[in-house]
Amino acid sequence: DRLPSVLRLMPKAELHVHIEGTLEPELIFKLAQRNHVSLPYASVEALRAAYQFSDLQSFLDLYYAGASVLLHEQDFFDMAWAYLDKAAADNVVHAEIFFDPQTHTARGVPMETLIKGLHHACQRAHQEFGLSAKLILCFLRHLSEEDAFATLEAALPFRHYFIGVGLDSSELGHPPAKFERVFARCRELGLHVVAHAGEEGPPEYIHQALDLLKAERIDHGVQAVRDPALMQRLAEERVPLTVCPLSNIKLCVFPTLAQHNLKSLLDAGLCVTVNSDDPAYFGGYVNENYVELFAALGLEPRHAYQLAFNSFEASFADAAQKKAWE
Ligand code: HPA
Ligand code: ZN
Repeated sequence: DRLPSVLRLMPKAELHVHIEGTLEPELIFKLAQRNHVSLPYASVEALRAAYQFSDLQSFLDLYYAGASVLLHEQDFFDMAWAYLDKAAADNVVHAEIFFDPQTHTARGVPMETLIKGLHHACQRAHQEFGLSAKLILCFLRHLSEEDAFATLEAALPFRHYFIGVGLDSSELGHPPAKFERVFARCRELGLHVVAHAGEEGPPEYIHQALDLLKAERIDHGVQAVRDPALMQRLAEERVPLTVCPLSNIKLCVFPTLAQHNLKSLLDAGLCVTVNSDDPAYFGGYVNENYVELFAALGLEPRHAYQLAFNSFEASFADAAQKKAWE
């Protein structure tokens, strides 16, 4: 069967990856040592063994704890470079990468430190691999809108280092409506806007992300199948969904990969893409997401072509770049 190698070799864009979610246990331990941060785990193996999640929140607790070893510009560079090196090996030619500044600024890390470390890794990936890597600043939705406004303000001196904003962290109880004003400000600033919605939350949160935040893409969005009118709208407007199959299994959104609804979403005409979300925590980078999903759902070469095509269509690359990928 040649399909797995086709999936690995085909050029693709990755549009839903949290840079803090690419921090492998080995690098967490290395940075903990380098920065004299103590960890509540005895070894890399003990930390990895703790990666068993029951829902989104049980993952987020460990994900924020893991990020506590990141202090200096070099740390952010090293984390992003490790991801970009892996992405290039996966034939990712364009990546739009989420980062969570509040996770770091709340610990006293300056905005400049984290943004510059990430940016320099993106620059180097372009030079060395020809991989275009862009940053998307995410607001943590469990925090207040006021906190999001302050974060935007702190990031504005570095406006040219990121292309857009997103919304992540604990979804239930934190609807998009909570961030309507800060997203309006971001749009005025010419930033692209996306939002996590319909990962665990109801279809109503997807409606809010579209109507109130004017989100250009929906991150996850798999709960849309519960709302036929919403499905029709997503198909008609070709609103991209950045779906993350292995993430959905690890966080118990679906019981097994064979029960994942990605094929239903594709069959309904939605612009679905395949992504890794937090690959260090969920057991696979983007190519493992493709290969395991295709095996579990019995997808075919035409689906591979469609998903790679969608990943470029859904990207924020400029028209000339999209033309070059055709
Ligand atoms: N959902 C919400 N917040 C996140 C995720 C996710 O899948 N990954 C990292 N932060
Ligand atoms: Zn995510």
